[in-house]
Amino acid sequence: MKITPILLAAGQGTRMKSDLPKVLHPIAGKPMIQHALDSVSHIATETPIVVIGHGAERVTDYLGASARTVRQEPQLGTAHAVMQAESLLRGASDLVLVSYADMPLLRGETVARLVELQQQNRGAMSMLTVFADDPRGFGRIVRDQNGTVEAIVEEYVATPEQLRIRELNVGVYCFDGKWLWDAIQRVEKNPRKGEYYLTDMVELAVKDGLTVQAKVMEDAKEAIGINTRVHLAEVEAEMRKRINEAHMLNGVTLMDPASTYIDSGVSIGRDTLILPNTYLHAGTVIGEGCVIGPNTMIHATKIGNHSKVLMSVLEGAQVGDEVDMGPFARLRKGAKLGDHVHMGNFGEVKDSTLADGVKMGHFSYIGNATIGKNTNIGAGTITCNYDGVKKHPTLIGEDVFIGSDTMLVAPLNIGDRASTGAGAVVTKDVEADTLAVGMPARAIRKKTSSKK
Ligand code: UD1
Ligand code: CA
Repeated sequence: MKITPILLAAGQGTRMKSDLPKVLHPIAGKPMIQHALDSVSHIATETPIVVIGHGAERVTDYLGASARTVRQEPQLGTAHAVMQAESLLRGASDLVLVSYADMPLLRGETVARLVELQQQNRGAMSMLTVFADDPRGFGRIVRDQNGTVEAIVEEYVATPEQLRIRELNVGVYCFDGKWLWDAIQRVEKNPRKGEYYLTDMVELAVKDGLTVQAKVMEDAKEAIGINTRVHLAEVEAEMRKRINEAHMLNGVTLMDPASTYIDSGVSIGRDTLILPNTYLHAGTVIGEGCVIGPNTMIHATKIGNHSKVLMSVLEGAQVGDEVDMGPFARLRKGAKLGDHVHMGNFGEVKDSTLADGVKMGHFSYIGNATIGKNTNIGAGTITCNYDGVKKHPTLIGEDVFIGSDTMLVAPLNIGDRASTGAGAVVTKDVEADTLAVGMPARAIRKKTSSKK
């Protein structure tokens, strides 16, 4: 059976007051529309269709091959939006699932329940409804004495009696693909707003003598659509709560979930402890038994097992097992730390590999370097990797001892077991098992002011 989702995303999103199309605003580090795509990905047998209008180019660029797009120009309502997909879907999909791109809390399980309901009954359509005390401009579900759904009435045309109805239209429907395309042609332009309303499909099905089924959603929060940045923050908080709870149920300790910010898709092993004020951004993978934070930001970084990261910033890096970092360590793009590496305060590593057991205790900058096993990098060591035009590599062997405040002027090779003296400015290669020292300070005169 062919099942195709259509996501509506053509609306202007004026109330966001943003240059970024509404559906590209991130929630837990992932664009709103990606959450919507994820919610339909399990039931879809065909590539989803996204109806775009405002900000079409940027949305299309984001989607790439993950969805097909159709343009709705001008935007004449939700039924008109669905009509744009007719040429792609008429006769090509048994079921058509319609949802919104601005409803990121909708769960895949909920969508699956709706599709199952439609598959079991095979009426004209099934839809999701929700009971809520604050109806917030939602369409009201009108049922007859037997509880059968008769219509969806939009708020602005509802009678006072209908306004009291607390069962609301979520805006997610599963249509029979054979019935949909002829029926949608019969939707009439709404005289007040000049729009074609998808909600009219319910009355059309009833007129055709076909069943309309409604599935009541258990968690009303799933129906929150985003129109303003106030909604954005509300949904962000709810999404973070969900993500945090899932990690805790997986065996991760969050000392203070309220100040722990974990993006969608981050993976964390069991018995890892996350301390407060920690941000784990998209693409991050953390192993078991680690201690991360407090006050730490990690972006797209992979960390092994039993490592400690204290008050540090890591981005696009790789960290091995039993590494000990911070406070105030910084890993930038392409930093690779092996197992048992120690990196103390105020160090920065970029595009470099530190092999197992490297110690770098204090105040160092390592860029474009490869450092062998168990080498010690003294306090204040700097790889002078940039000559103002090009970056140059530094190669340091195993068991090397780099003295404090050594300047390593790249390109440079330091052999295994070599040493440099404190304050050395190393401009030429140092062979293995060799000591290189430079410029010791000389006494130049007696200080006149000093008292005997
Ligand atoms: C719609 C429903 C209402 C339901 C509510 C739930 C209709 C007529 N009403 O109302 O019953 O309770 O959703 O949120 O359907 N869109 C387009 N093209 C258009 C118009 C809208 O793509 O021409 C998209 C919007 O980008 C948005 C979604 O459809 O994502 C909903 O549109 P919106 O105008 O917000 O509908 P509501 O008035 O909220
Ligand atoms: Ca809306």
